[in-house]
Amino acid sequence: MKLTISSVMISVLIASSVSAVPVRRHQKNKMMMAPKGNSAASSAVGAAYFITNEPSGNFVVAASIGSDGKLTLQQATSSEGVGSHGLPDLAGPDALFTQGAVKASNDGQVLATVNAGSNTVSLFSIDPKNPTALQLIGKPVGSGGEFPVSLAFNKAGSMLCALNGGFVNGVACFNVDKTKGLTPIANTLRSLSLNQTTPATGPAGSASHVIFSEDESQLIASVKGVPPTPGIFAIWDIASDKSLSSNFKAVQPATGGLLPFSMTVIPGKNAVLATDAGIGADILDLSGENAGGVAGGKSSILNITGQGATCWSSHSTQTGNFYLTDILTNEVTEVNVDDNLKPTIVQQYSQGTGVATIDNDIATVNKQDFMFVLAANATQVKVLSLNAPGKATALQTLDISGPAKSAGLTVNAANLQGMTSFISSA
Ligand SMILES: *[C@@H]1O[C@H](CO)[C@@H](O)[C@H](O)[C@H]1NC(C)=O
Ligand SMILES: *[C@@H]1O[C@H](CO)[C@@H](O)[C@H](O)[C@H]1NC(C)=O
Ligand SMILES: *[C@@H]1O[C@H](CO)[C@@H](O)[C@H](O)[C@H]1NC(C)=O
Repeated sequence: MKLTISSVMISVLIASSVSAVPVRRHQKNKMMMAPKGNSAASSAVGAAYFITNEPSGNFVVAASIGSDGKLTLQQATSSEGVGSHGLPDLAGPDALFTQGAVKASNDGQVLATVNAGSNTVSLFSIDPKNPTALQLIGKPVGSGGEFPVSLAFNKAGSMLCALNGGFVNGVACFNVDKTKGLTPIANTLRSLSLNQTTPATGPAGSASHVIFSEDESQLIASVKGVPPTPGIFAIWDIASDKSLSSNFKAVQPATGGLLPFSMTVIPGKNAVLATDAGIGADILDLSGENAGGVAGGKSSILNITGQGATCWSSHSTQTGNFYLTDILTNEVTEVNVDDNLKPTIVQQYSQGTGVATIDNDIATVNKQDFMFVLAANATQVKVLSLNAPGKATALQTLDISGPAKSAGLTVNAANLQGMTSFISSA
């Protein structure tokens, strides 16, 4: 393989040089995964990304998105950090117990990933003409804590906040610059005061996800409860200088909620749909009064009958509905939230048995929405065409392990995490 030879040659050249140039690690930084005669990269309308989260070296895997919504694996790029796996079940998928381990910003043309085992965050630039060829910007920076697990960009892609879920836990935010990289923002290092370990112990009691509220006036982190004690949404106010309030407001989900996991903004409502591994979903009305620290206003819970652990979610602009994944039942559950914030189940779509559907994202291609679901245990990505409310259909099953093996990229079902996408011309 040409790539192997050239990398080895470069390593030899550097190693034999007498100058003080630091020797790079003996690891390829890029691995090509495209099929022979590949033309998908040049006709791509965007890219979908997830991470290997391997303790031996974390890679961002990029697949091109075709105009038909189908994915083609193209390239894996080293984050120059390492992954990790939460305790105690080292063999289980969903290593970080979170959503948002890797995030792309369409407006900022950047992508960031956590390196949970290095306590760092890596930033890459995205070239819209070739979105699968990521370029690392500078070096990974400290995440402001231990076991970083989730990331949130503001809409402009100029601010990034990280959620740390380990022994030293909480949030920390950074300015994003395409040449200077990430620089910490003063007064954004805030503790969650969780009694946690590094790596984190979970899923119960672990940090889940960090997001900006729709108007970007608040930063919200979700934390799973330890049954029978419900978890919380930790809410910080964001000042005009981007600093965070010293303390967070802790809000429990409405009665019945237990393990708040992913959070997806409900457009135009100052509210959030959170998946809840213990019941299905929580609706969090951010404008409600929170009597006794429990979510008020129009907050509620959605009981998804027969659910196992509903943990990940995305919103579709095409159908107006939310799509939730369950790691145990492997159902995608489509949920409608009406003008009064009342949630109802629209439809469910089975993705198989034992595939462990975890992180997902939805991208709009020519006004059509496509959902990318990481089926971690099967080392696959399931692609759904959302079409219309209640009318999603299976479009593609993308194999990860075959192309990874051919490229010499280490992937494990238990470590794969994250799903995010970038569209070149929206
Ligand atoms: C923290 O968690 C450990 C392990 O579960 C437990 O033994 C300890 O009592 C906890 N400490 C506090 C202050 O809750
Ligand atoms: C959720 O629905 C199931 C099935 O109807 C029921 O057994 C369960 O008690 C419900 N859970 C809650 C918390 O209401
Ligand atoms: C993952 O696959 C293994 C082997 O097929 C199976 O035993 C296990 O139950 C699966 N785990 C999940 C969470 O689906």
